[in-house]
Amino acid sequence: RRVVVLISGNGSNLQALIDAQRHDELGGEIVAVISNRGDAYGLVRAKEAGIDAVVLPHQEYDDREAYDRALIKVIDRHAPDLIVLAGFMRILTPMFVHRYAGRVLNIHPSLLPAYQGLHTHQRALDDGVAEHGASVHFVTEELDGGPVVMQAVVKVGENQSLETLVEKVQAREHLIYPIAARWFLEGRLRLGAEGALFDNMPL
Ligand code: GRF
Repeated sequence: RRVVVLISGNGSNLQALIDAQRHDELGGEIVAVISNRGDAYGLVRAKEAGIDAVVLPHQEYDDREAYDRALIKVIDRHAPDLIVLAGFMRILTPMFVHRYAGRVLNIHPSLLPAYQGLHTHQRALDDGVAEHGASVHFVTEELDGGPVVMQAVVKVGENQSLETLVEKVQAREHLIYPIAARWFLEGRLRLGAEGALFDNMPL
């Protein structure tokens, strides 16, 4: 099973996926990493792991449709079964989403449906919530709104700083994203009409 990962930055979630693959725990192979930014550190991680790393700068395209058409071309060259968004900071067009319907996962740093969008950790702290976390979800046309697959909860401490909250949530992201990807690649997880469906689980 073939996986393409889209990134824009540090790529710590990409690293978690690479490590899972290395331990034979991904259920597939990361065949390419694509970044819309040339300075994304995740590109270095990909190269170090011997994975094809492609830069597709969004500035070089007139609009989202043109960018996504170019992105589709690169992705299709690698014929992936699964596309993993790992800190890819671009809104995808409906055209893109429909083309790969049910085959794109994203990870979002909140307990969805709470805190869609940006600055999730700061907003959670400002609201004084007791719990925060991360969600893996299928990508649909609705931004951060697709069916949730898996969530990890972290307790927010009394004097929790932004920095340590981000760290705690990211550590959970690195734990759950490879598991969700594996379930998908092993055919245990799919997108149904009503949401995420789980089959063949060793329960
Ligand atoms: C993560 O916090 C993820 O939840 C969000 O973007 C961040 C990416 O971090 N979508 P990294 O590039 O994987 O380190």
